[in-house]
Amino acid sequence: MSDEVKTICCIGAGYVGGPTMAVIADKCRYLKVIVVDLNKDKIDSWNNEDLTKLPVYEPGLKDLIKRCRGKNLFFSTKIQQSIAESDMVFISVNTPTKQTGLGAGEASDLKYIESSARSIAEFATGNTIVVEKSTIPVKTAEVIKTILISSQKGLEKNSTKSFTVLSSPEFLAEGTAIDDLMNPSRVLIGGDSKTSINALVNIYKNWVSEEKIIKTNIWSSELSKLTANAFLAQRVSSINSISALCEKTGADIREVAKAVGMDYRIGRHFLKSGPGFGGSCFKKDILNLVYICKLYGLKEVANYWEEVLKINRWQQNRLTTIIVKKLFGTVTSKKIGILGFAFKANTNDTRESPAIKICSNLLIDGARLSIYDPKVKFDEICNNLKDLNNANGNSFKVEDFISMASSYEELANNSDAILILTEWDEFKKIEWSKIAKLMRKPSWIFDCRDIIDINDFKESDLNIWKLGFGSNVDNLK
Ligand code: UDX
Ligand code: UDX
Repeated sequence: MSDEVKTICCIGAGYVGGPTMAVIADKCRYLKVIVVDLNKDKIDSWNNEDLTKLPVYEPGLKDLIKRCRGKNLFFSTKIQQSIAESDMVFISVNTPTKQTGLGAGEASDLKYIESSARSIAEFATGNTIVVEKSTIPVKTAEVIKTILISSQKGLEKNSTKSFTVLSSPEFLAEGTAIDDLMNPSRVLIGGDSKTSINALVNIYKNWVSEEKIIKTNIWSSELSKLTANAFLAQRVSSINSISALCEKTGADIREVAKAVGMDYRIGRHFLKSGPGFGGSCFKKDILNLVYICKLYGLKEVANYWEEVLKINRWQQNRLTTIIVKKLFGTVTSKKIGILGFAFKANTNDTRESPAIKICSNLLIDGARLSIYDPKVKFDEICNNLKDLNNANGNSFKVEDFISMASSYEELANNSDAILILTEWDEFKKIEWSKIAKLMRKPSWIFDCRDIIDINDFKESDLNIWKLGFGSNVDNLK
């Protein structure tokens, strides 16, 4: 097989596929890069002249699209044709947790991986390298291979169609995706065909030094991705569990995190306490890990990782309870401002955002929410919060209880409390003395993202509650 790849295609124009292909196109101008998706609206948005309408918000993404789109980067719904003309096909479709059937609630639903593999089997021509980019359970490559090989059996003897499968999981984090792709900590490529691995290495070599490119067998590659995400999530749950203890004992979680993180064996990254981790990957990947462990009879290992998820959910419920208690035990008919709805700063992604659980809890308790988020739209928020029942079990229309605030003043006006859930830089510049005047008294700010410097408020009539900030909070007033 020739290792000269000229055209690549990526199935799935989402948060992973779109930015990843934009960076490859920018770094490899000799390649033709086609990103395909079943969703026509999404492709139309990727092709929109107005770059503020791209379906994914990522710092730096607009510039890349401007440089490459229409030159060597194309967004299309012509899946069959794009597969046929490509030497390498990336699969970057979503793999949601199964809702029904075997493994429901834990296993990943591979239906989109399967349908992508079937399309590749049918429409690919010549030698095609298939690269799994989606995070998937270990042994998924086997599913893809089986589909591709069985499609070959029906072919005529003189057919030149052939496939190899590689696993090359993406480690980008949303909000910093472009930087992560441009300067990856490592690129992982798993597979058993040296020629195909080299073909992919040759693409990455255009901007990544070779010592950062790790070659493994396919199963190690798949399992590494799940393990990396599980370890990261575990750090967040660990620090969040200690944040609760800080609040009880008078310790300050930031001081603890700093002291702990300066041990080079532990490291300082990923030790920020907050309202719990969100995003499309952590929960799903841990559930996958748990499912696989159970499948192989490793009950203790499954239980171990399950606790990381339990602490995450507990943190979100714990925060709601604190808010309700501080507001005299009830939030019914009270206006609460929510700063930030996405699962972290610098993204418009709301998947598994801690805001969903926290806002749902508050709405169920009867609160009215005024929400400000720099990138998330009202419809998206309503979609995430629908299907709620109030404390009496009666369903209610969430749209009647939430509104979008277009300014901090609107959010604060007549509110009893403001809850900071996402760490957008712009929230650090809020003039709280102005905001305080607009709120009902006593007014509360619940800072779950270490946005506020508590020393600025010692003289103010705002009540501040900071996550993990034991001694100063309850004793401040
Ligand atoms: C997803 C997974 O969540 C992640 O685990 C994996 O690593 C990569 O794929 P993401 O890009 O964030 O990540 O998902 P999403 O933004 O939902 O994009 C997936 C896209 O695939 C969607 O636009 C969807 O329309 C498209 N798709 C899905 C297809 O084009 N064909 C299909 O058969 C299924
Ligand atoms: C994660 C992994 O970092 C990335 O390598 C993988 O490819 C996909 O999953 P992502 O979910 O986009 O990326 O964002 P990440 O920065 O990891 O944050 C995940 C969640 O953890 C967010 O809700 C974030 O707010 C939270 N978090 C992160 C903390 O609460 N504290 C921290 O110190 C770090």
